[in-house]
Amino acid sequence: MAKLKSSGNQQKKSVLSKTISFFIQSEYHAYLVGGYVRDTTIGIEHRDIDLVVEGDAIRAAKQLNKKLKGNLDIHKKFGTASITTKQMRIDLASARVEKYASPAKLPHVYPSAINEDLNRRDFTMNAMAMSISNENFGEIFDPFNGMEDIKKGVIRILHKESFNDDPTRIFRALRYKNRFGFKIAKTTKALMTEAINKRMIQRLSDQRILNEIRLIFNETNNQDIIKDISNLTSLKIRKKDMELLPVLGSNRMYFYLSKLKYFNFPITSDEKRLVKDFHDFGNTITRLDKATKHSEIFAILSPISSEVIDIMPAVLPKLRRNVRIFRQLEKKKLFVTGNDLKRLGYKPGVKFRSILNRMRDWQLDRKIRNRKEALEYLRNIKH
Ligand code: CTP
Repeated sequence: MAKLKSSGNQQKKSVLSKTISFFIQSEYHAYLVGGYVRDTTIGIEHRDIDLVVEGDAIRAAKQLNKKLKGNLDIHKKFGTASITTKQMRIDLASARVEKYASPAKLPHVYPSAINEDLNRRDFTMNAMAMSISNENFGEIFDPFNGMEDIKKGVIRILHKESFNDDPTRIFRALRYKNRFGFKIAKTTKALMTEAINKRMIQRLSDQRILNEIRLIFNETNNQDIIKDISNLTSLKIRKKDMELLPVLGSNRMYFYLSKLKYFNFPITSDEKRLVKDFHDFGNTITRLDKATKHSEIFAILSPISSEVIDIMPAVLPKLRRNVRIFRQLEKKKLFVTGNDLKRLGYKPGVKFRSILNRMRDWQLDRKIRNRKEALEYLRNIKH
């Protein structure tokens, strides 16, 4: 096992060293930036690499990928490219300055040099670069004293418009705060609160908010982040719901989404189903707790996703019995089907469905014991 891990790291290192040696030998000025520099400074591993290339990053990416043989994605409009190899992802961006067309909208892009590129970044700890070019290899660019802030454990924005320019930074600050156990600097906190009060988050598209929520739930300590978000922003959940998060496992994001009003998140239909099930979760649990007849248990749980049903006993242990009963009921083969009804002359429609449900309920509650009894009953009632 240990060997496997180290060979994975080895391959990762080889992607990194191939990348570095490519840039040392090339005519490009390139820099490691952002998370990679930050995490290396902190002394932890960072999965992906962000590179800033002074000049045409797309052209550089195409050449680099001849060596790495990964998947190359090009975003012409932004002058960026990414290479995905088995081991890691490398994002390349052309050094640029961004002029914000209007707050919270995606930026316009103009070419420029590394220092200007660092100026547009979110926090001092993310605004550091290390040259990987031949002439000044290893030189650190740290115009905002990011190293110092990392040492102090402080999250600090670069200028007072930062949260207005990009309100996703509110979520990012809270993510880093909880991930690293850092503090948000006093002025940064005040400007963050001001942006929240000015409803800057509401200017973001639902897609961008969803991206941030997904990133939060990828973090180990997502509950602490949600707690902060709930305390500070309008994306709140009640204390009672917050307490449920620990038992919800990998589904907790859908539970959280189900508690947020006024959004129309672009999620898949499977995800929508989970959100809907969680929306009625409290109600379903109360009904299931009171249910005694098998037919009732079945009616309550059959529309609910299996994952959500599995979570219920963790929320209320006494539900274990009714969930177990449901799992047995699910396996039962029904005595009569729609085809039987059609054969007996019933016409599909509301009444048809209700008779079918009644037969199912009677079977589950053992009011009829076999197919013969069921068919006999169907022949005898008028239709
Ligand atoms: N960045 C920014 N403002 C944002 C998003 C990103 O300034 N709203 C910059 C930061 O310099 C950040 C870099 O882009 O370091 C890369 O962003 P991202 O990949 O999201 O973050 P990482 O720094 O890699 O950190 P992590 O993924 O660990 O959160």
